[in-house]
Amino acid sequence: MINQVEYHPRLSQNDLHEFCKRNGIQLEAWSPLMQGQLLDNDILHEIARKHNKSVAQIILRWDLQNEVVTIPKSTKEHRIIENANVFDFELTNEEMDVIHGLNQNLRVGPDPDNFDF
Ligand SMILES: NC(=O)c1ccc[n+]([C@@H]2O[C@H](COP(=O)([O-])OP(=O)(O)OC[C@H]3O[C@@H](n4cnc5c(N)ncnc54)[C@H](OP(=O)(O)O)[C@@H]3O)[C@@H](O)[C@H]2O)c1
Repeated sequence: MINQVEYHPRLSQNDLHEFCKRNGIQLEAWSPLMQGQLLDNDILHEIARKHNKSVAQIILRWDLQNEVVTIPKSTKEHRIIENANVFDFELTNEEMDVIHGLNQNLRVGPDPDNFDF
């Protein structure tokens, strides 16, 4: 089973992710780049600089190391290639924690708890 939800460093869905792990459900991220709104974050830029990667790649690598399937969207070929190029480096535990620290339970999409279905 897969649960596809909004997931990015400003919305790290800790309780939901723990629930999914306990129940054999794979978490999958939509809007993993917060629809572009995280790409100018200073903390992510600093981590990206250390790894010689882009901020998008840092976020997508954070997803993978959190065992979250991720589906970024881009209309540009060079960014689609960039977004797939995240398997040749590893974030440290400290960097993972720093990125987790960005969580503000902030959504760019609709909240399923308050949605007019
Ligand atoms: N948003 C929703 O409500 C929703 C719901 C369910 C599923 N999904 C699916 O989730 C996927 C992604 O979600 P999303 O489109 O909402 O947001 P997203 O993937 O978080 O962000 C997409 C935005 O980031 C830009 N971008 C992508 N890669 C980049 C890079 N390497 N560097 C700089 N900018 C980059 C894209 O611009 P360019 O195109 O100009 O590169 C686009 O503006 C889509 O496939 C969508 O179908 C979305």
